[in-house]
Amino acid sequence: MMRTRPLKVALLGCGVVGSEVARIMTTHADDLAARIGAPVELAGVAVRRPSKVRAGIDPALITTDATALVKRGDIDVVVEVIGGIEPARTLITTAFEHGASVVSANKALLAEDGATLYEAAAKHGKDLYFEAAVAGAIPLIRPLRESLAGDTVNRVLGIVNGTTNFILDRMDSAGAGYSEALDEATALGYAEADPTADVEGFDAAAKAAILAGIAFHTRVRLDDVHREGITEVTSADLASAKGMGCTVKLLAICERAADGRSVTARVHPAMIPLSHPLASVRGAYNAVFVEAEAAGELMFYGPGAGGAPTASAVLGDLVAVCRNKLNEATGPGESAYTQLPVSPMGDVVTRYHISLDVADKPGVLAQVATVFAEHGVSIDTVRQKGKDGEASLVVVTHRAPDAALSGTVEALRKLDTVRGVASIMRVEGE
Ligand code: NDP
Ligand code: HSE
Repeated sequence: MMRTRPLKVALLGCGVVGSEVARIMTTHADDLAARIGAPVELAGVAVRRPSKVRAGIDPALITTDATALVKRGDIDVVVEVIGGIEPARTLITTAFEHGASVVSANKALLAEDGATLYEAAAKHGKDLYFEAAVAGAIPLIRPLRESLAGDTVNRVLGIVNGTTNFILDRMDSAGAGYSEALDEATALGYAEADPTADVEGFDAAAKAAILAGIAFHTRVRLDDVHREGITEVTSADLASAKGMGCTVKLLAICERAADGRSVTARVHPAMIPLSHPLASVRGAYNAVFVEAEAAGELMFYGPGAGGAPTASAVLGDLVAVCRNKLNEATGPGESAYTQLPVSPMGDVVTRYHISLDVADKPGVLAQVATVFAEHGVSIDTVRQKGKDGEASLVVVTHRAPDAALSGTVEALRKLDTVRGVASIMRVEGE
């Protein structure tokens, strides 16, 4: 039976994502109504610049007073696609207080202060859904929150930022410059309002915090995630990776410790073998592997950024939240019962590719090898290329704790024969 009284939706933000949400709500209104069991009506659209022309949106719906919109009292669902911490946080908590459920794409806020949002939703018996916050169109939050709720997830590893994957891909496959590739990603609507969030790894770290929290049933905040961006990845790194049969990707890796008593979450560029499925993730696509005890290894793949793909995830949440509303139910809330501590990066064990500029004379290789041995870091391969009394030395290690590698690099820098450490990159996916 179709309910005739519409469910009212307040849209906060009408930019890259919001404009696509509004478009699909309008063009697919009948299908959405049939799937939900009631029509959904766009009741208001909050923006910053009211005079901007917004195709397909009734100008009478536009307001700059987002607070008044969420306080109206007749709004069933607030869709927050403004981004950032404030006013988004206050608008979301106010929405709960005034009887609305919330759909958000705001990974920065969820990673910074998800607890406040979850608590406000629970206090007022409302839904907080955020599929679009991680990996764009890819259904990932719901599988982790619901489909895998009976399993034990031990690892989540993947590419979760479309902008940086787009940039690295353009640099690697088309020889594009970094700035040129970033400009292209921004023009295509992939980058955050401040693209520093993408290239310095903040966006991927926020997503890693959200994924780790849900996967391991614990609270993980942005500050808990070790973060390195792609601004220091050079074309020499990409060439060196190619020489090893690898490519460079910005990875987010969340792991449960072998004893199950702690977790780690990190974001950094890494070399991965060309044979690894993540190596063939191109452009702004994302891909995430989830390893669970009973399920084994699962892979999620698809468009990770952009207006329409992200709106798809928002609309999926909107349908779910509206259905819950009609059934006078709510979906899953926060599950953080394990309260596992997040271990520091120094505890992470992985392999490393280190590029050194050294003096090309007898004994240097032995000296370098001794430093590695003294820090308990075992060398897998060494390659040396000499030029005019200087040499470039590329060392690839076996697995070692990150703290041991940091100690090794610090000691190497002190050797007279080491002119410089050209690059250090982790090697993953083998
Ligand atoms: P945009 O910058 O394109 O859009 C932001 C919108 O919010 C604009 O319409 C802007 O108004 C409005 N806005 C800003 N401040 C206020 C305010 N104080 N009150 C009312 N409205 C305001 O961002 P995106 O659409 O790209 O991103 C939105 C959210 O979705 C962010 O959280 C982002 O991280 C997330 N996201 C984005 C993806 C993407 O590919 N772009 C993918 C996944 C998630 P005006 O139009 O007047 O400037
Ligand atoms: N700026 C983000 C990215 C948008 O490039 O992945 C999707 O979350």
